[in-house]
Amino acid sequence: MTQLIVRRQQDASLQGRAGVPGDKSISHRAVMLAAIADGVSHVKGFLYSGDGLATLHCMRQLGIRIDVEAPDDVPSLVVHGRGLRGLTAPEGELDCGRSGTTMRLMAGLLAGQAFDTRLTGDPQLLRRPMRRIVDPLRRMGAEITGTEGHAPQTAFAPLTIRGTGHLRSSDHVLTVASAQVKSAILLAALYADGPVSVTLPGPARDHTERMLTAHIVAAPGSPPALAFSALTARLDASAVDHLRPLIWEVPGDFSSAAFPIAAALLTGAGVTIEGVGVNPTRTGLLDVVRAMGGELALTGLREQGGEPMADVTAQASSLSAIEVGGETVVRMIDEFPIFALLATQARGTTVVRDAAELRVKETDRIMSVVTELQKLGARITARPDGFIVEGPTDLQGAEVDSQGDHRLAMTLAVAGLVARGETRVNGAECIPDSYPGFVETLGALGAEVRYAG
Ligand code: S3P
Repeated sequence: MTQLIVRRQQDASLQGRAGVPGDKSISHRAVMLAAIADGVSHVKGFLYSGDGLATLHCMRQLGIRIDVEAPDDVPSLVVHGRGLRGLTAPEGELDCGRSGTTMRLMAGLLAGQAFDTRLTGDPQLLRRPMRRIVDPLRRMGAEITGTEGHAPQTAFAPLTIRGTGHLRSSDHVLTVASAQVKSAILLAALYADGPVSVTLPGPARDHTERMLTAHIVAAPGSPPALAFSALTARLDASAVDHLRPLIWEVPGDFSSAAFPIAAALLTGAGVTIEGVGVNPTRTGLLDVVRAMGGELALTGLREQGGEPMADVTAQASSLSAIEVGGETVVRMIDEFPIFALLATQARGTTVVRDAAELRVKETDRIMSVVTELQKLGARITARPDGFIVEGPTDLQGAEVDSQGDHRLAMTLAVAGLVARGETRVNGAECIPDSYPGFVETLGALGAEVRYAG
């Protein structure tokens, strides 16, 4: 087990500029789409760590040659795509590690293949709900089975997919605003015999739609194969001729940048995170922090690979409590652990509602965040669909545990920068699941953070 030791910062002492690793969501999608494109694609800035590697290894097992350039610098992949029907049967199971996105998107991609596959992963992933993808993929004609849970509405991985090689045209209305489910359906739709549509109850990240738009080459004389809006997407595979290979430059992951940005809001003299993806379906935290009084500036707005990107600067700010619910929740779904920490330092009562999805992330993020922040003296209580925080609180250093959740581990490390004395974060080995270099970057910005031993 890896332990991190973090000491309280002098006020407003973090300073400097840094980048963050490539966006996790875009990295997964870039390799999968490049693998089924016709020819060689380049994925620059791929998340060459944890969850990103899980997808890379799965694609290699499916017969795709992937060369890696500069793994320690800006990692770039050279993906030798074999076309929509070019994947081959893997030997053995496909291991998705702890990556929910790998499991759910791979299930969509594999549902329409002509060979059998089995998707498995770490115990943490085998506890996460899969009914949400199993049901729509079955409606498309996929033969996919998981382990049935105690309740009839549950299903878990390992997932076994019997490849029939073709899927049906169908319409799907989702009850959760999940980008993973939407994306699994869209990937499966590439193998359907006609249009497939998916409607969500609220907007969710749209990377798959943006990336498919760039990859798809329409069949001659066909209308556009893909149309989408905030709540719907419709893909007609009969209008797809093939996917073209592309050069992707993956923007920095906003969900990783959220940690140094939060650290700066709590104790920064001015920290700039460069080259961060600022797709509006991902940046709910920016809006919420601004509404709390946080001083944030976006500069150098530019576009890269169809995705907006900017440099984000933050500094120590006096924060006020806020209520978060409704559509904002999905736009900051991965940022609630670090947001909870910010709320402990904000004046007043912060309320989070409509966020029951947090219970089925890497951990039950309502319980795990509440339990661990309470150990530092936070006044935070769980609600069925969120939490309530009273602030501000003078946090007290303590021994805390990541519970195997990368975003909780990083939240606790940032908490250690403002908690009195010393904070020890156990289980820090999961941090590279999404953010290799997190500890080094915090250190370079001036934080006193190190590995024990
Ligand atoms: C992701 C979607 C979100 C998010 C996850 C990545 C994606 O999950 O929490 O970290 O890449 O599509 P849900 O779709 O389950 O909300």
